[in-house]
Amino acid sequence: MKNIAILCSGGDVSGMNAALKRFVEYSFAKGLTPYFIDNGYEGLIDNKIYQAGYSDVSGIISRGGTKIRSSRSKRFREQTYRKKAIDNLKMHNISYLVVLGGDGSFKGMQKLSEESEEIGFSAIPSTIDNDIAGTDYCLGVDTALNVIKYSIDSIRDTASSFSRAFVIEVMGRDCGYLALVSALTSGAEMCLIPEIPYDLESYKENFQGQMKDGRGYFIAVVSEAMKNAGTISQWFEKEIGIESRVMSLGHIQRGGNPTVYDRLMAFHFITHAIDGLLEGKKSAVVCYNTGGFNHKKIEDVAFKKYKINPSLLKLGQEYGHTI
Ligand code: F6P
Repeated sequence: MKNIAILCSGGDVSGMNAALKRFVEYSFAKGLTPYFIDNGYEGLIDNKIYQAGYSDVSGIISRGGTKIRSSRSKRFREQTYRKKAIDNLKMHNISYLVVLGGDGSFKGMQKLSEESEEIGFSAIPSTIDNDIAGTDYCLGVDTALNVIKYSIDSIRDTASSFSRAFVIEVMGRDCGYLALVSALTSGAEMCLIPEIPYDLESYKENFQGQMKDGRGYFIAVVSEAMKNAGTISQWFEKEIGIESRVMSLGHIQRGGNPTVYDRLMAFHFITHAIDGLLEGKKSAVVCYNTGGFNHKKIEDVAFKKYKINPSLLKLGQEYGHTI
């Protein structure tokens, strides 16, 4: 019986626990012995590796975060520590390793796979930022979008009751995907993301006109990458003449009960990762494109820049012009 291990790395997402449950169950179904690595690459270096069973995953499917914890490991950038990690995998006779994480975690996995040819590695895109090149979807995005939608709906209630502008800062690191989809689907009046140039003058004319027509509040969604929530809030007060508040949604966006979609995607991602490893795909990323799953070489994903789908960007370009 071969041994297979899993770890979570980087920012946690809702859906990781569903993935762990599927991992244990599908490993057994395929005649593999599942292992958990606690605390990401840090735990791999420190040998926090243990055999997992059904009891480890019972009751976790509905919980956000990850039962086996995650970390951002600086030590893993150094070859000495990666050697320790490989020695630990060998000590436990691990033949396969599944990594749930984002771009940084994939780069780490790529290095590890170059340094250890005997072990098969498979990566599953898991980040609320949805910023991995080569895949249309990353685990956890749907739950994060729903948490943001719920928050903006609530903010709209108070904004409209009190005649205020709210500038809502949304996560996404350097990528505007979360902010753009959230702005569109919650009916925000303004959306600022790095991928779309904006013109405050055109917003000004538009918003002043709307104020004259009786509009009493505004919702602006800005991506954290813009680093300008405070400036935009002051702009509302000075240029539009409306009281304004900044609301940074922060880490709330990373938590919460995973949606049905993320639970299902977790099951699919794990199934494809394990099937790929058993078929001999040694260092691949499981990607989801146009409704189907495929495996891509790690180097075709980890060092490429993610681009937002052009039709989605087109919807975003209407901000500041027609709304
Ligand atoms: O990559 C996920 C993410 O939540 C980003 O959106 C955000 O910029 C970052 O992680 C926050 O990192 P930390 O949890 O280390 O503060």
